Amino acid sequence: MGFLNRDNGKPTEESALEVANGARLIPRITIQAFCEHSQTAQLVEATLHDRRMSKVALTTHNGGLDGAVETYKSNPTPNLIIVETSQQPDEIPAALARLAEVCDASTRLILLGHVNDVVLYRELIRSGVSEYIVLPASAQSIVSSITELFAAEGAAPIGRTIGFVSAKGGAGGSTVAHNVAWAISQHLRQDVLILDMDLPFGTAGLNFNQDPPHGIADAIGASQKMDQTLLDRLSSKAANHVSLLTAPVVLDRTFDFEEREFEQVIELSQRTTPVVVLDIPHVWSNWVRHTIATIDEIIIVAEPDLANLRNAKNLSDTIKSLRPTESEPLLVLNKVGVPRRPEIPPNEFATSVECKLLGQIGFDAATFGTAANNGQMIAEVAANNRANETFKVIGMHVTGRNTPERAVNRSPLKLPTFLKKKRA
Ligand SMILES: Nc1ncnc2c1ncn2[C@@H]1O[C@H](COP(=O)(O)OP(=O)(O)OP(=O)(O)O)[C@@H](O)[C@H]1O
Ligand SMILES: [Mg+2]
Repeated sequence: MGFLNRDNGKPTEESALEVANGARLIPRITIQAFCEHSQTAQLVEATLHDRRMSKVALTTHNGGLDGAVETYKSNPTPNLIIVETSQQPDEIPAALARLAEVCDASTRLILLGHVNDVVLYRELIRSGVSEYIVLPASAQSIVSSITELFAAEGAAPIGRTIGFVSAKGGAGGSTVAHNVAWAISQHLRQDVLILDMDLPFGTAGLNFNQDPPHGIADAIGASQKMDQTLLDRLSSKAANHVSLLTAPVVLDRTFDFEEREFEQVIELSQRTTPVVVLDIPHVWSNWVRHTIATIDEIIIVAEPDLANLRNAKNLSDTIKSLRPTESEPLLVLNKVGVPRRPEIPPNEFATSVECKLLGQIGFDAATFGTAANNGQMIAEVAANNRANETFKVIGMHVTGRNTPERAVNRSPLKLPTFLKKKRA
């Protein structure tokens, strides 16, 4: 379900999203449009000429509401759907209900219609449609609506922050973080930014075969000068929809950060990119604790042995007490089935740690070793490896997508507003 109105955002930093003439830049969102007429498709495509749209990935498709419903029965929904409908006002709510059933919670909807009717407008906005624009309209008015939704002062940040932390050094937090980021970019086709927070030893650059001159150290060093343009310049594109802020990996200085030193970079990242993956090193410092307390989702990556179990339990308890009202930490077991190694059974491990076990990844030295040495993802060196499915499941879960398990247990609270009204 989706396109609920949200107005609980924190105030934005004024300058962050402003471009030279005062217009606000729309973040790196994905938009899919479903148009009934070719002129409407042209109109929607014309929005790309507006510089506020320069970061946006937009595709247009044939078919109005019904086309969108068919598409999203089997495909993930983007950040924003624009749909043209020439249905009669009394038919639109039912068609919207069908669309809402197949939309994710975070997806917004702008409807382009042919009926200029204020009662219809009010009903649509009440039921969760973000905007209703009457055709004919100008491309500029569509861009302004999108800007209002995603870049307005006070708009909630679009990015979801997902941190990966190893229960013990070498358990695979970084490998899992990078592959999950990749899986999200591939399956949701949304932009993902990976922050490599392991400044002296990070492997994001190596794992994506990138050696850019700038990265996360420059972003933190820039402090007050940091804005969206600088963030763009400091990050490097690792693949389609994947960008990195790499670690400098130098030992000529030490990296002792203040508690809130990463805060600005994380906030700016989530204002500009729909998914922000944090590769958190296995250290326990003020800034790690603070980061863990403030991000959206945390995944503890552990190997199934006793030291990992102890550390994972400590982490889990601490995280839960640091953020009692936020989502609980999740568990991924990695390197399961090392030959001849006595191991704790996954379910027993998860029960002791009191965390939901999101997935387990087998020990596979050949595949993971080849991927690491080549600077490639597991999916690139072994497309059929079972780990890829696990990376996808983790990615869909932490981005709030409907995994098969969620679809079956769909909570009534997740229904769109107009459906709830009808059932009430
Ligand atoms: N399932 C697996 N099977 C085999 N090798 C793996 C697996 N997962 C990760 N590895 C390998 O284990 C090593 C450590 O992985 P990684 O760097 O991701 O761990 P980490 O917990 O982030 O380490 P650090 O403590 O240095 O941050 C890497 O060489 C990686 O290729
Ligand atoms: Mg690591």
